Amino acid sequence: VRTIGVLTSGGDAPGMNAAIRAVVRTGIYYGFRVMGIRRGYNGLIEGDIFEMNLRSVSDIIQRGGTILLTARSPEFMTENGLKKAASMCKIFKIDALVVIGGDGSFRGARDLSKFGINVVGIPGTIDNDIACTDYTIGFDTALNTVQDAINKIRDTATSHERVSILEVMGRHAGYIALYSGIAGGAESIVIPEKGLDKDEIIRRIIDGKNKGKLHNLIILAEGIGGATELAKEIEEATGIETRATILGYIQRGGSPTAYDRVVASLMGAKAVEVIKEGKQNRIIAMKDGKIVDYDIDEALSMQKTIDEYMYNLATILSL
Ligand code: F6P
Repeated sequence: VRTIGVLTSGGDAPGMNAAIRAVVRTGIYYGFRVMGIRRGYNGLIEGDIFEMNLRSVSDIIQRGGTILLTARSPEFMTENGLKKAASMCKIFKIDALVVIGGDGSFRGARDLSKFGINVVGIPGTIDNDIACTDYTIGFDTALNTVQDAINKIRDTATSHERVSILEVMGRHAGYIALYSGIAGGAESIVIPEKGLDKDEIIRRIIDGKNKGKLHNLIILAEGIGGATELAKEIEEATGIETRATILGYIQRGGSPTAYDRVVASLMGAKAVEVIKEGKQNRIIAMKDGKIVDYDIDEALSMQKTIDEYMYNLATILSL
């Protein structure tokens, strides 16, 4: 029997459990042995590895986080760490390793593949910042969490006729900010891909007030950051009370949305299918609504850009 190892790595994302479940259940269905690896690459290096069965993944599809636990592993970045991880794969007879995580985790997987381990990546991060895929598991749930926060902030900000700045996650990328800004009707969306134009934001606030708006919402991506300082500057420049909210880790938790569960299930199954077909070193992705797989080097050399149309539309819709 051939053996598949599965781990989650980097920041957790809602839907990771649904992906683990799909890997375990389809893996066993196709006759593989499936080994769970705890705490990401740290657990792989230390041999924190156990055999999973159909019941190991019962009752987890609806749970946020990851039952396998996760970590960012500095040791795995070293030659020595990689060697230890590769030898653990051999000791536990792991022929193929499924890595559920983000870009950094995939780069680690590629390094490990140089030691003869077949690796397959499944994109799991709330940031949606992986170039080869239109969608990463967890993004939709995070957007819905941000939406809930925006609704609540709107109630109080409108009542006080304030400006509100909501700082959202996304690391160096602005996808969470762009999508939640459109969904939440933000007046300004500030993302690293476009930079910060304070005068433009201030002009929109004053314009909005003159047009009878009771409230002005700015969504700021953490990649630019500085919500609290920006609030002070805006208040000084406009004379309008301005409050900053930094949403933080609340965006990473919660029960995954139906969409995240479905995508995670499809991607988890696809990872097992590519292993079954004998493919080597792949990244699972969504392209134009379909689940596909790319060579890992090709996937990691791709670039992702913000949708200009969406960005411009956000401004028109908030007039
Ligand atoms: O990648 C997901 C993410 O939540 C980013 O949005 C954020 O910048 C980062 O992880 C935070 O990482 P940590 O959990 O190490 O603080």
